[in-house]
Amino acid sequence: MTTTPVRTRTRVGIVGAGPAGLMLAHLLARAGIDTVAVDVRRREEIETTHRAGILERDSVRLLVDTGVSDRVLREGHEHRGIDLRFGGESHRIDFEALVGASTWLYPQTDVFVDLADARERDGGDVRFGVTDVAVEGVTSGCPTVRFTDAEGRAQEVDCEIMVGADGSRGICRDLVPQDRRRRYYREYPFAWFGILTEAPRSSEELIYTGGDQGFALVSSRTETIQRMYFQCDPTEDVTAWSDDQVWDQMQSRVAGPDGFRLREGPIVNKTVLPFRSFVQEPMRHGRLVLAGDAAHTVPPTGAKGLNLALADVRVLGEVIEQALATHDLDLLDDYSERALARVWRTQHFSYWMTTLLHRLPDSSDFDVRRQRGELESVVSSEAGSRYLAEAYTGWPAG
Ligand code: DHB
Repeated sequence: MTTTPVRTRTRVGIVGAGPAGLMLAHLLARAGIDTVAVDVRRREEIETTHRAGILERDSVRLLVDTGVSDRVLREGHEHRGIDLRFGGESHRIDFEALVGASTWLYPQTDVFVDLADARERDGGDVRFGVTDVAVEGVTSGCPTVRFTDAEGRAQEVDCEIMVGADGSRGICRDLVPQDRRRRYYREYPFAWFGILTEAPRSSEELIYTGGDQGFALVSSRTETIQRMYFQCDPTEDVTAWSDDQVWDQMQSRVAGPDGFRLREGPIVNKTVLPFRSFVQEPMRHGRLVLAGDAAHTVPPTGAKGLNLALADVRVLGEVIEQALATHDLDLLDDYSERALARVWRTQHFSYWMTTLLHRLPDSSDFDVRRQRGELESVVSSEAGSRYLAEAYTGWPAG
């Protein structure tokens, strides 16, 4: 039996209600612009998917200054530096001294919860758990998103601008015809083995290790739950690893003459995180604009994915407001251009930090010694450290 779809109208349709989609909806609501955001995932599903945990200075400002929530300031942890560890020694990169900035440890799942709560508080229209999402008419005067809502009712939402914030596996990036888009890829021959462990913190700040002992990252979630990663093969089977084997790997990568050891505990989650760089250009087609992972993916080193998505929508919010006010949709091209400038700088940084710290399976002795030279260059001169500090804490918005 076919039922007549419920038809509604809004100004901006948003496909994807993760951090990018919800942040955009929040910014537009502040400008008096109605949105409807839809997501195929249920809210609980998004809340329990582990993602990265580091926010740039301006990401924190965006959450706090636009009234999403100030929970990040109460429950997050400000980090004024990181440790780069190689050759068994730690080298602190002092963000505060180098660039007068810091980052915040605050998991992406908490950012999502804050945004979803803020939408609920402000009466925003967000539909989680929808199915059969289809977008039509992005080059017509009135694009439409059709879907079946969580209660099984067919819905059609007409809008003036459609935003694809539906991630790297979403439908929106494919709505740009092949002859109107360019895609850039890079695959990496390694991955991260990520764990969550019930253990006390081993370090107040993050530790990134590289060099002879291989890559590891020591991060945190709470006083009692820690997040850590080490380099592995992309085909690694996490179920084949005992807790003891994982701890041996982690301990050997951080070991040194200073006797540093990680505090161990039961491992409650093990997953493999793939590495990929991807960009689709342009980020506008007709009345469709892409934001966040729908347009680009960065490898996880340096935790830029969420920060880049938030930087996209900060620009996009402004541009949509102007475009709707002036009825000049070509302003959306400015969004694509401005966002892509940051996307490519960030692609470079994520790639650079990845190659600085990881070992290629076929690396030669030359490669190994050269990489050590690079690590020494970064930590032994202020100029070397400053690029890392500036990019890691985030280039100023604008
Ligand atoms: C985390 C993840 C990252 O990719 C990173 O560079 C730093 C921290 C994290 O999950 O905490």
